Parts: sequence; C-alpha cells; structure tokens
Amino acid sequence: MSPPLRILHITDPHLHEHRDARMRGVNTDDTLVATLKQAMADARRPDAILATGDLVQDETRGGYERFRELTGGLGLPVYCLPGNHDSPDLMRAVLSEPPFQFCGVAQHGDWTLVMLSSFASNEAGGVLADPELEFLERTLASRPSGHCLIALHHQPVPMGSRWLDGVALRNADEFFRVCDRHTHVRGIVWGHVHQASDRERRGVQLMSTPSTCSQFKPESEHFALDARPPGYRWLNLHTDGRISTSVVWVA
Ligand SMILES: [Fe+2]
Repeated sequence: MSPPLRILHITDPHLHEHRDARMRGVNTDDTLVATLKQAMADARRPDAILATGDLVQDETRGGYERFRELTGGLGLPVYCLPGNHDSPDLMRAVLSEPPFQFCGVAQHGDWTLVMLSSFASNEAGGVLADPELEFLERTLASRPSGHCLIALHHQPVPMGSRWLDGVALRNADEFFRVCDRHTHVRGIVWGHVHQASDRERRGVQLMSTPSTCSQFKPESEHFALDARPPGYRWLNLHTDGRISTSVVWVA
C-alpha cells in the first residue's frame, strides 16, 4: 500500500505588516516561524501545507507577503482559505500563484481536498454562500470515488464555548446537508477556534486545530486565553480512506 498523503495543517497565524507587532502579547511572526521550524524538522516531510484562515490580523498586503515568504520556499503546495480577519481580495492577489492556491480543489491520488471560503463581510462569524455550497456539491458529485477532506475557517459544530459558538458557521445545517449526500467525505477540518478538538459525526472525522499563536480556553463562557503554546496538526490521509492525525504543541 502506498504511503499516506501527509498534510501539515496550520491555522490562524494572525501575521501583521510589521514583524515586531504583537497580538495579545504574542509576537505572531515569531510563533509562526517557530511552528514551521519544528514541523519541517519532523522525520516525515509533509506533501502539502493547508492554512485555514486568519493568515493576517491587520488586513494588510504586507502580512500576506510575509506569509508567502515564510511558506513559499519549502518546496510544497500551500493551500489557503480566508478567515474572518482576512481580506479575501488581498489574499487572492498575493497567494494565488504556485506553490500557493486560494480556495478551490486539489487532487492528490485518491484524495480530494476541498478548500471553502466561509468569509462574511464585517462579521466574526461565517457563512457558506450559495456559490460555495454549489461548488462543494459539484466537486463531491463529480468525484464519486476516492476520499474527500473538506477545509474551512469557521466551526460547523458547537465547541461548547458560548462566545465562540456565537461566531460559528451560521449555515452549518446547509453545509452538512451537502456533506451527508456523499459517502466519500472522510474528514472536515477548521481553524478559528484556537484549540484542538477531535470528534466524529456520521462516520466523518471533525477536527479543529490550534493556532500558530495564542489559544482560547476551551469551554469558556466568555473570551479567555489558554496558556497552551502554539500548535499544529498532522493529517495522514491513507489510501483506504482512513485519517490518522495528531496535534503537536510547539516546544
Ligand atoms: Fe483566529
């Protein structure tokens, strides 16, 4: 059996135009650099990087250019999608040329990766607009064999945290109606919540990944930071459709 497709999932780096800028006391440039350094030193090299939004904090072109500088020279495709802090137009302008891809679909052997935009203007919460849902339906229907991993920024299921669940994916029911029509969806992965979670829904693995900067306290009623360090996730997508995965905290 051929080796699994290995994806490095990073999310919510919240970069700024100025490298010395901090968010909640954290230099987000330093933490992304440290995250990439640790992940790329792993004995098993990834086949691609998946970055699920909030790539920048200040909606600047310079933030995206810094992301491009840090991830573009690793010899890997880098799949990007926007979060609520992003400017999708700027992101598309800076991160569309190979090795980067802005949203859409990527095929790696038996595995189809679908990157969706849940960005909604002037909102911290998210929505999958009709064209995104139609794109998902069309993509899943046109590749009925093999396996599919779906990535987006906002959580489609409650995290058990009142404030965070108030800024979730607004039309998760419509999203799951599409997913449920296709039995080859194996996993759904997101950012936004700055914490790790793993669960299963109707045979599909649902996973959130910690931020490469600061984390939110799980199950907190109000906004609260967690003391956990930056983190990232390995996704091993096996040819039989299995997903083995682990979250790694940055030392
Ligand atoms: Fe974020």
